[in-house]
Amino acid sequence: MKKYRAAVVGLGRMGSTIDEEVVGYPAIALPYSAAGACRASQRLELVAGADLDPAKQRAFAERWGVGAVYGDYREMIRQEVPDLVAICTRAENHAELALGVAEAGGVSMVFLEKAMACSMREADAILRAYQARNIAFNTGVLRRFDTRYHRARQRLAQGEIGELRTAVHHASSSLMHGHIHSVDTLLYLLGDLRALRVKGELRGELAAGPNRFDKDPQAVYQLQFPGRIEAWTVPTGHWDFEVWGTKGMLKGLNNGMDWVERLPLAAGRHTIYPEKPFENVPPYSATLYAFEDLVRAHEEGKPALGNVEITHHATEICLAVAQSHLEGGKWIDLPLQNRDLYVWHV
Ligand SMILES: NC(=O)c1ccc[n+]([C@@H]2O[C@H](COP(=O)([O-])OP(=O)(O)OC[C@H]3O[C@@H](n4cnc5c(N)ncnc54)[C@H](O)[C@@H]3O)[C@@H](O)[C@H]2O)c1
Repeated sequence: MKKYRAAVVGLGRMGSTIDEEVVGYPAIALPYSAAGACRASQRLELVAGADLDPAKQRAFAERWGVGAVYGDYREMIRQEVPDLVAICTRAENHAELALGVAEAGGVSMVFLEKAMACSMREADAILRAYQARNIAFNTGVLRRFDTRYHRARQRLAQGEIGELRTAVHHASSSLMHGHIHSVDTLLYLLGDLRALRVKGELRGELAAGPNRFDKDPQAVYQLQFPGRIEAWTVPTGHWDFEVWGTKGMLKGLNNGMDWVERLPLAAGRHTIYPEKPFENVPPYSATLYAFEDLVRAHEEGKPALGNVEITHHATEICLAVAQSHLEGGKWIDLPLQNRDLYVWHV
């Protein structure tokens, strides 16, 4: 089996060290970091890393036993000719680096950390560049790559709870850093439907300039899909997700660790919906799954599970929440007209 050459840009937490922060937390199956996932994969060989910070380069070389470390990622691509590049810098650099990696040529798979961009102007440029070059693409919205969520989506798709009606996320969260995860997971559970309209409110102190937010705001939102399907976030709870259908509901608790279903004891107005845990699947590293999914997409010539179109749509939903707030909480039809609205986030 062919092994592909993999390189990481941004050798900080997600690129290299984050596993040590979550050891013992059962909701996250290791490896979590990009370097750890490359190392764990049978299909990838970790060959190089790039970071502007020489101390990060040294630490990465020592931790992973990889001598090929660079300050300039373009130089790294020229010298090391990687097939897969994982971009694990902060979001304000994502567009510049995602475009730079695509334009460098020769890279056929890219994992870009979330959110893909800070504005739709940036996201549009990434979409065009990756579609034009047919580069397999995934982002770090890891629930989409988690086998426990796959099991839930499978049950939903099989009609277990009837026709899907409403999906709800529970947790207080920032708009771009956090809700890109909640939006993506709701889209995933609903079978990757595309939202028609978005309504939202930003909360707390807002660092706003003209057409931009310099701090990632806390946010709540409501989404509308074709067929009267809706999704909401409720700003309390612990990254729980629930989906209601015409027959019953399914719920993921404790950040995906526990799953229950509620189906009616009998049809009728006054029936009750007892809670029944359903058989779960053993956890598997979502980062590793995302990387292996890139290899599969590349080899089969098929879209990756979190492909650039899906990522672009989730980003557009988040930015439309900020636009809705700016317009007094009104519904924003997609596509978002204001392509330059900029929301800074990590
Ligand atoms: N998917 C997840 O669950 C998850 C978890 C944590 C972080 N993240 C995401 O990962 C990204 C990185 O976050 P972090 O906490 O690891 O950040 P970090 O600050 O620890 O690491 C970022 C690194 O990028 C380097 N860098 C910046 N510009 C560069 C450039 N042009 N070339 C090379 N290196 C450059 C910095 O020097 C730094 O070492 C963020 O987008 C964050 O949202 C995702």
